[in-house]
Amino acid sequence: MKNSMIICADQGKQKISRHIYGHFAEHLGRCIYEGLWVGEDSKIPNTRGIRSDVVKALKKLNVPNLRWPGGCFADEYHWMDGIGQREKRPTMINTHWGGVTENNHFGTHEFLELCGQLGCEPYICGNVGSGTVKEMSQWVEYINMDGKSPMADLRRRNGCETPWKVKWWGVGNESWGCGGNMRPEYYADEYRRYATYCRNYGDAGLYKIACGANSTDYSWTEVLMREAGRHMDGLSLHYYCGSGRTSRSATRYGAEDWFELLKKALLMEEIVARHSTIMDKYDPEKRVGLIVDEWGSWHEVEPGTNPGFLYQQNTMRDAMVAALTFNIFHSHADRVQMANIAQTINVLQAMILTEGAKMVLTPTYHVFEMFKVHQDSMLLPAHTSFGTYEMGNENIPQVSGSASRSAGGKINVSLCNLHHVADTVVECEIRGARFSGIRGRILATDSIGSHNTFEKPNSVKPEHFDGFKSSSKGTISVELPARSVVVLEIE
Ligand code: AHR
Repeated sequence: MKNSMIICADQGKQKISRHIYGHFAEHLGRCIYEGLWVGEDSKIPNTRGIRSDVVKALKKLNVPNLRWPGGCFADEYHWMDGIGQREKRPTMINTHWGGVTENNHFGTHEFLELCGQLGCEPYICGNVGSGTVKEMSQWVEYINMDGKSPMADLRRRNGCETPWKVKWWGVGNESWGCGGNMRPEYYADEYRRYATYCRNYGDAGLYKIACGANSTDYSWTEVLMREAGRHMDGLSLHYYCGSGRTSRSATRYGAEDWFELLKKALLMEEIVARHSTIMDKYDPEKRVGLIVDEWGSWHEVEPGTNPGFLYQQNTMRDAMVAALTFNIFHSHADRVQMANIAQTINVLQAMILTEGAKMVLTPTYHVFEMFKVHQDSMLLPAHTSFGTYEMGNENIPQVSGSASRSAGGKINVSLCNLHHVADTVVECEIRGARFSGIRGRILATDSIGSHNTFEKPNSVKPEHFDGFKSSSKGTISVELPARSVVVLEIE
């Protein structure tokens, strides 16, 4: 069957928030320590303790926001342990992630320094599970209060005169699970209590995010929206797609596993749509954002590594997951106001892997870099008709696509051919705009397991793409190789 995409280039009402391209860094495995923070005395080049190579690479992604400190870690983190002179900070046990000792050297000031270096907005998740209302309330005061107050004075004594004005605040993480095993009715009341004392100092414009559902738990969303919807700005959602039918390995898998992971990733469409429908019932104006603050693929850890560190390799299959997930988020731009890949470095579907002073960019990194053209662009309505990709008696669409118009008037089209072996062609018709130039980039590989390693860091990387033909009638015929992600910039 032919694939077609009719793009209405002169229409569009909804911007794709850049915050959909957000990140997540938890105190988990080697994400914070080694991945981002090496300390000021490290031989690894750093700026005030933060790895310079990693910051340089991440800056190319235009990271819009960074969520921290967890994850499950957030609900056992006590922020006051992470301020003041580093050597004097108390230690704790990171019970969720490997039972390792946390020295609290990376705390509030270091995180906000990192965000400053990246040029991104901080998104802080507070502790509901094992914390107190007072503790969370004081954290907001410490970070955002300008005038004289006990917490603002403490911040000044720790070397920071002016407040950071952090806008994004999460009130607990996975409160249905690692964050306290609460029932939605109970958490809704807890949320209301905690959120009341997260005060809006100055012009920080606090945006309070309630803990949302675990993937398809629609009743959680129903209860939260009914009982606490009017007290929140955002409601989170977590959905991971895991491998696999015959293999859980991140790198060694067959065609069936490839298909299965992409099918699971595509479920994001139904999950977002159904949570949005419930939110529409209580919030028809779409004031409350759906914040998908944990998503991505979850495989078996790399052989020989600590199972509690969630360190996995990352292949072209994961790049496909990222690309098709972004296309889904774009199509729900009216409700999905933020999303955060789990996680930025060395954990789950990472952008970057490190080994000592070495660093490698993953195929997922390249998708984030290629897709950044969509950040804050206008979503363009597109009528699509895509053929199917079959495996046994199951099928999924072979192509995933979306389009947007940048502030400068360029039309961005992102397309993926999900098939593990079959090339295909997509006929794109651009309606309502004339164009004279097209610039294409492609991420494609010679095998389904291709990935980058410290020895071969450039096996998977974007290339110039010219596999398209345009006609004077405004159509572009795009030849998509199997297992490829293509971004066209049309002007
Ligand atoms: O991202 C890893 C973990 O997955 C997070 O800590 C938790 O919120 C989720 O279960």
